[in-house]
Amino acid sequence: MQQTPESSKKHQELTQENYKDSKDYGFGIAKSLAWILLFLTLASGLLLSVFIGQSARDVLLKKEQGFASLLAENINQDVYRKFSIPTLLAFGRISLRQPAQYERLDETVKTSVDGLNIHNLRIFDHAQKVTYSTNKAEIGSNVFSSPATQQAQLSTTPIFNIDSSIPFWQAIFQPNLKQGSFYLRTTYPMQIENKVSSSDKEGPAISILEFSQDITEDMGVIVRFQRLVIGVALISSTLLFILLLVFIKRAEHALSVRFQERQKLLTELHQNERFVSMGRVVASIAHEIRNPLGIIRSTIELLLKRPIGQDPTTAKFLTAMHDESLRLSQTISDFLDYAKPKQPKQQYIDVILVLEQIFAFISPDLLKYSVDIMKQYPVKGAWVNGDKDLLYRAFYNIIVNSIQEMKNGGVINVTVSSDDKKVNIRFIDSGPGFSQDVLEHLLDPFYTTKDEGTGLGLPIVNSIVSSHGGEINFMNNPEGGAIITIILPVGDIDENSL
Ligand SMILES: Nc1ncnc2c1ncn2[C@@H]1O[C@H](COP(=O)(O)OP(=O)(O)OP(=O)(O)O)[C@@H](O)[C@H]1O
Ligand SMILES: [Mg+2]
Repeated sequence: MQQTPESSKKHQELTQENYKDSKDYGFGIAKSLAWILLFLTLASGLLLSVFIGQSARDVLLKKEQGFASLLAENINQDVYRKFSIPTLLAFGRISLRQPAQYERLDETVKTSVDGLNIHNLRIFDHAQKVTYSTNKAEIGSNVFSSPATQQAQLSTTPIFNIDSSIPFWQAIFQPNLKQGSFYLRTTYPMQIENKVSSSDKEGPAISILEFSQDITEDMGVIVRFQRLVIGVALISSTLLFILLLVFIKRAEHALSVRFQERQKLLTELHQNERFVSMGRVVASIAHEIRNPLGIIRSTIELLLKRPIGQDPTTAKFLTAMHDESLRLSQTISDFLDYAKPKQPKQQYIDVILVLEQIFAFISPDLLKYSVDIMKQYPVKGAWVNGDKDLLYRAFYNIIVNSIQEMKNGGVINVTVSSDDKKVNIRFIDSGPGFSQDVLEHLLDPFYTTKDEGTGLGLPIVNSIVSSHGGEINFMNNPEGGAIITIILPVGDIDENSL
């Protein structure tokens, strides 16, 4: 079925909308995926850093706790051997209120922890009261009792707690951790017979030992490590994200270029289908009209030679009829040339010679309409394999169009160039250029903005250029005027059939 221009346009618009929808949908998904990926890699990076940090912290704490346990046992034994036994022997009972006993315990403890970076060492009695402290002011107070000291009273193993001035996660964002930000507090049930020999059973807790170690430095190492993991996760996911976006952008561009090409092909296909079916019908009608038109024209010519044609009024009418029939028959020939294009001959010809023939032919018109031709040709000529008459007609149509557009005169620059593959013929006029509407319909048959035009000039040019394996482009010169470029394959001398 024949397609009207409107339906074809509608079809194109619909295809364009479909494409836009599917493109937006497809790339929308890809962009969302990129975002999801960014968040996923970030989240997994964070989780990984938390997990690694936690494991490293556990290892560190185990090490610190082992050390603290040994230290607590050591203090316990030192106190037992160097303080409890000698004091009991010397005084009969232990009473830290006596300065001599207190001094002895203080010396024993300080010798045990000397140089070990131990803070707030306290010994609690059964009533959770401080009986000994490295800070004398705390002695006798029970405000330092804690769930750990109470629990230790019933336990035989040490209890560990972390005292920190800031939450661990906050430490990650702090450039420098202050000394004393993290303490490991050890609460240890002291026993009389504890570890005198390895086979001894553990006795009841006589008092509770508590001390803290500053582990900020070790925690700082873990914090820095976690920072590194988070940083790497952040950088790698951002890079991945950018990479994905670049890929999406490129794919989007490639797709839109491919779509435009497809669209162009589709348009050409629709146009061709339309023209072929239309051409077949009109060509047969035109053919039928041409013969009677020829008879009418020759009859008028005959009448003009007869006495009846000598009457001025009748002669005027007959001449008008003759001119119109001539124009009509030219239009029919043009149309038939367009609808049934001739197969071009394959002559080896120089397009410059063809152009020069046209300029010679139209020189009176150039003079009449004050149009100058500026030429730029290659010295060696510009050779193609083609049909001299058809190319003459194509260039002629373009030049005549330019002259018609430059109503107050102007210039046509004709530049011919060639390389080992293509011959490029460019016409630049100083006319008004193409309006947007004209540009869209230039190659539609019968599209014209002129009262006397048929609108077949450029479609014929296009058909001739295509039949020569070339292409034609129309554009506006930024400085004003139209630019028409014809590109033809360079001629092969072997095919010369002159
Ligand atoms: N150099 C140009 N500058 C501006 N507009 C142009 C130029 N060449 C062609 N056009 C526009 O393109 C239209 C179509 O040109 P085309 O040669 O196909 O038909 P036409 O010149 O109108 O009629 P015909 O050539 O059949 O006598 C013209 O009517 C004109 O509006
Ligand atoms: Mg024309």
